[in-house]
Amino acid sequence: MINSITIRKPDDWHLHVRDGQMMAATLPHTARAFGRAILMPNLVPPVATVADGLAYRERALACLPKGSDFTPLITCYLRDDTDPDDVEEGFKMGLFTGVKLYPANATTNSALGVTDYEKVYRVYERMEKIGMRLLVHGEEVDPAIDVFDREAVFLDRRLAPMMKSFPGLKIILEHLSSKIGVDFVRANAPQLGSTITPYHMEINRTDMLGWGIKPYFYCMPIIKTEADRVALREAATSGDSCFFLGTDSAPHAMAKKLAVTGAAGLFTAPLAIELYTKIFADDGKLDKLEAFCSLNGPAHYGMAPNETTITLERRPWTIPEQVLVDGPEERVLVYRGGETMEWQVVG
Ligand code: DOR
Ligand code: ZN
Repeated sequence: MINSITIRKPDDWHLHVRDGQMMAATLPHTARAFGRAILMPNLVPPVATVADGLAYRERALACLPKGSDFTPLITCYLRDDTDPDDVEEGFKMGLFTGVKLYPANATTNSALGVTDYEKVYRVYERMEKIGMRLLVHGEEVDPAIDVFDREAVFLDRRLAPMMKSFPGLKIILEHLSSKIGVDFVRANAPQLGSTITPYHMEINRTDMLGWGIKPYFYCMPIIKTEADRVALREAATSGDSCFFLGTDSAPHAMAKKLAVTGAAGLFTAPLAIELYTKIFADDGKLDKLEAFCSLNGPAHYGMAPNETTITLERRPWTIPEQVLVDGPEERVLVYRGGETMEWQVVG
């Protein structure tokens, strides 16, 4: 049995830390183990211009522990009226790593997202020209579509035509959640890459709904069937270059998660790299961990991998139940809080 592994420092290509006191409480949990992370722009109001992005990056840097070498990466929230010149300026100055497409109302804080797909084609045109990445929340929001089919319908109805119209535009399909999605990504690599969360590889919809409703397994895209879970796990642990790490760790105040209409999102940052390591170890695929966590993502983004390393050992510890937040949000409950995690970052 392998009890220790050293890999190049990983990056989190999909992370929510919010802003203000919530960011101060959550960002250090990612900075302890990751070299870089893309901070999602779905704030209220969103990070939608160069001016917003510069200010958000400064606020993120101010939340880091002294001496941290962690780099926050910023994306621009795509709106129907996004200015391609502003996007290009942000990219060329090294601020924007990419542009994030939220279909309007698909998830948390997406009300100002895209309502008319043709309107943003002029932004894609510019991004294709300058080599900038598009990050996609791939779910169809048409209310006639069953929530479990949102990803599959989006791929067919939205993403396939988009990729055909802009063959030079590199895209990341975020938080892949279905077997249909896995097959679609493989068929469209290398133009398309995809992030996979740890929890879409760990749980299925029976875990979420079969023995009482578990709000702490509720996220978007919704957790799907056992066959989907297995397909995602096989994809990630294959080491194939089109699949890479993106936690989608998404903190919500406990009161919002447990409300009658509960917020979508699971907070995994305190145990994220450990959870991925456990998944790869349990499947006998530790030899593919570094590709998924530390190499495939930078390659898809056209960036160099991190130079430093981290080491994990099989050394059980108890996952904290909550992270306290100063101010009215008070606390965020942690995914699998109170349970034992057998892997630990030791250096
Ligand atoms: O479950 C989710 N939570 N999915 C998303 O796409 C957004 C995220 C959030 O911001 O809370
Ligand atoms: Zn997200």
